[in-house]
Amino acid sequence: MFSSNPGPIGVFDSGYGGLTILKEIRRRLPQYDYIYLGDNARNPYGTRSFDVVYEFTRQAVETLFSKGCHLVILACNTASAKALRTIQQRDLPMWDSSRRVLGVVIPTVEALGSISKNGNIGVLGTPGTVSSGTYDIEIAKFFPQFRTVSVPCPMWVPLVENREYDCPGADYFVEKYVEELFASEPETDTLILACTHYPLLIDKIRKQVDGRATIVTQGELVAASLEDYLKRHPEMDIQCTKGGDCEYFTTENPDKFTESAEMFLHTPLKANHISF
Ligand code: DGL
Repeated sequence: MFSSNPGPIGVFDSGYGGLTILKEIRRRLPQYDYIYLGDNARNPYGTRSFDVVYEFTRQAVETLFSKGCHLVILACNTASAKALRTIQQRDLPMWDSSRRVLGVVIPTVEALGSISKNGNIGVLGTPGTVSSGTYDIEIAKFFPQFRTVSVPCPMWVPLVENREYDCPGADYFVEKYVEELFASEPETDTLILACTHYPLLIDKIRKQVDGRATIVTQGELVAASLEDYLKRHPEMDIQCTKGGDCEYFTTENPDKFTESAEMFLHTPLKANHISF
């Protein structure tokens, strides 16, 4: 069904947010080829139901496999929380059990043990990620003694997607969600930005947190985890081509994607349109 030739590593997000992950992956593993796919036409995913996020993500992964990828990273917390397990358990065995789909939640949770001192973890994510309970469940599995408080931040993705993350209006929503979290648990010492869009708001978030907690972003953690995965799985490593190239696809207007993506990555690129 899919080509058995080696191909690029696929990186998927609902929109631009996954570029913050791609950037760190390419910094750490520049030798591989990549395809980035942003489903900008159907973004945001964070407010959508489980079934819809699963179906959209399944279509995106299938598209990336059709483009030659053997390994796909879901660089989106909402997709990782709501679709990853079903894709791994139900779809992969039907498609091709040698292909792999990995998410961003486990690499983030694994790192908490060396970051938190008092075990009070705060999670800021999309309504979908928070309501899925994925972080609470995974943190409880890895660190049963830790306590987790999660706050949904429904306005942060629209601020980033609409390039309003630097405007004074963004301050209001940053203060609102950060203070909601500290009001629930003033002892929070580790704050996970559990959405790949949020690093664009980091200056404002850092200012608001004002040293009360260590802020955890995911790009470097996911990149380190991918490097480790490829070392442990030479059979997958040989299926990943190494030419240092990256192609960009969006389900929306490619010119608009190109303009915004250049702002995220600080490098010129040319996006293509794709529909699935
Ligand atoms: N960037 C995605 C995440 O990490 C969500 C953005 C959206 O709501 O589509 O959760």
